[in-house]
Amino acid sequence: DMGGHDTYMHKEISEQPDAVDRVLRGRIDDRFSTVHLGGLNLDPREARGIRRVKILGCGTSYHAGLIGAGLIEGMARIPADAEPASEFRYRNPVVDPDTLYIAVSQSGETYDVLAAVQELKRKGARVLGVVNVVGSAIAREADGGVYVHAGPEVCVVSTKCFTNTVVAFALLAVHLGRIRDLSVTDGKRIIEGLRKLPAQIQEILEGEEDIKKLAAEYAEAKSMMFIGRVRGYPVALEASLKLKEISYIHAEAYPASELKHGPLALIEPSLPTVAIVPDDDLLEKNRAALEEIKARSGRILAVAHREQEKADHTIVVPKNEDELDPILMGIPLQLLAYHTALAMGRDIDKPRNLAKSVTVE
Ligand code: F6R
Repeated sequence: DMGGHDTYMHKEISEQPDAVDRVLRGRIDDRFSTVHLGGLNLDPREARGIRRVKILGCGTSYHAGLIGAGLIEGMARIPADAEPASEFRYRNPVVDPDTLYIAVSQSGETYDVLAAVQELKRKGARVLGVVNVVGSAIAREADGGVYVHAGPEVCVVSTKCFTNTVVAFALLAVHLGRIRDLSVTDGKRIIEGLRKLPAQIQEILEGEEDIKKLAAEYAEAKSMMFIGRVRGYPVALEASLKLKEISYIHAEAYPASELKHGPLALIEPSLPTVAIVPDDDLLEKNRAALEEIKARSGRILAVAHREQEKADHTIVVPKNEDELDPILMGIPLQLLAYHTALAMGRDIDKPRNLAKSVTVE
């Protein structure tokens, strides 16, 4: 049942305010400005003993994991990174007992992720799951974890589950942070930011008509560049993946800082760039990247917290705490991919060559 929407993708994009509400529900503890996660199976002493965090997933879940790694490293001050689960499996990784491994999956059935979890457990590692489907293989195999509570996702490409997964990581980051060195003040600041998300997502969704107009323009492109810096880079990666999956337009994502090391050679009027430009400590650096692109006559669509004068168009999104901005900045780009694909007449819910859960190697 599409509930009045033309596609599941549109339905699932629209459900995000409620979905985010669900992942937060019952988990915030205002008394200690922290977060309770019932299924984690990690006591405070164990949480303090973690020396590294390694996040594993595929596709969109890997991108959510990249943002999650930034959140955990930033708030809990534990070195954290994310890696595609299949790459991890095949490089015979060093498995370290002081590392917390986190497997991320919407379906909970992705074979490469499951196989990585099994290999880790066989070597004695502690593995948590950040999973959407309750009782799925990865959820059962993990030592504990956080359910994402996005609700059923039918469209082959992931939207609401991506957003909820990142919110789940923010919850985990506050939880680990408050056991370690995140102050009460910062815990409270992030919690207040999390509570603002559903209404802010709703506000972004109300701008859909404007994004649809932009999509009609960008649907003519043969190729698109997506750039972001630090927190913005995984947002660029995910937006680029979404566009290519459903529109079949070639898209690349680069860290903004890498432009001058190669991809700037591609910039010309027929290759538009989507730039993630949050109002944070990196704003000036990001603006400099826009100037570099403009100097080569590149067209720019910025996603920002205020109009960017170097950009041809700006999608303005509401500001949250710097740490949580990536969650909001991804949402208009789901709509951009959606309306671009729609304008091109694509089969949005079932893109060619793809399956919802990849249970083979
Ligand atoms: C992207 C997409 C895929 C999945 C990937 C992992 O829109 O749908 O990239 O994200 O196959 O799937 P899960 O999260 O079920 O492990």
